[in-house]
Amino acid sequence: MATPHINAEPGDFAPDVLMPGDPRRAMRIAESVLEDAQLVTEVRGILGYTGTFGGRPVSVLASGMGMPSITIYATELFRFLGVKRIIRIGTAGGMAPHLELGDVVIASAAHTDSAMTAGRIPGIHYSHAPSFALTAAAAAAAGLGAAAPKAEDPSHASGRRRRRATRATVHVGPVFSSDAFYADRPQTNDLLVKHGTLAVEMEAAALYATADAEGGEALAICTISDLLFREASLPAEERELLFDRSVQLGLAAFATA
Ligand code: HPA
Repeated sequence: MATPHINAEPGDFAPDVLMPGDPRRAMRIAESVLEDAQLVTEVRGILGYTGTFGGRPVSVLASGMGMPSITIYATELFRFLGVKRIIRIGTAGGMAPHLELGDVVIASAAHTDSAMTAGRIPGIHYSHAPSFALTAAAAAAAGLGAAAPKAEDPSHASGRRRRRATRATVHVGPVFSSDAFYADRPQTNDLLVKHGTLAVEMEAAALYATADAEGGEALAICTISDLLFREASLPAEERELLFDRSVQLGLAAFATA
């Protein structure tokens, strides 16, 4: 059954879906990472593809920007199209001062100012948390966790001088899922950082709540594309290289969780 926003039938999507925000990124992942990818939906230019990776079926569908948008797509995938696990592969602004451009944040929790999830269970401050299995698998794929004491990309271990693209550190911690990209609220940001928040993006909290509501599993893995505490942004080529790293972590999490 096609849904209001996805013109695909059950079976067109794999149980595992990677979800970038940008439809062109979905196309790039389908063309350069998946094998035998077929276009399965294109309503509103929100492109979705199904192919395989390492012999396992995997789909990719863009979420658009913000919590209303990702909630629509995630709900329809989980509820009507047989999807079991969604990993958001996005970008985020670094909030904590130890973050660098190109670092990766595996979002182990998501604070939010969104009314969407505040109203899910009246009177309750909802905890927006990802799937533990996907989080643990993504962290392990990044060389983090009990068995891997060094919280850094293993490619750094040789000590050779490398391009920044391969030096990215992977962090696991809370993000802030904001309703507003353009917001002037330094005090709020300071408090969030004091409470351990690593980065700001605009979708994870709603994705986690939708997965809970629909009986699915979800995780957000974000590449740091800008910093809130210093003028900085990634050159386009480097941004794509680093973005690929998050894609690989997501695919590894699907394969091993
Ligand atoms: N704010 C919100 N979302 C973002 C940002 C940001 O600074 N950077 C990338 N996604």
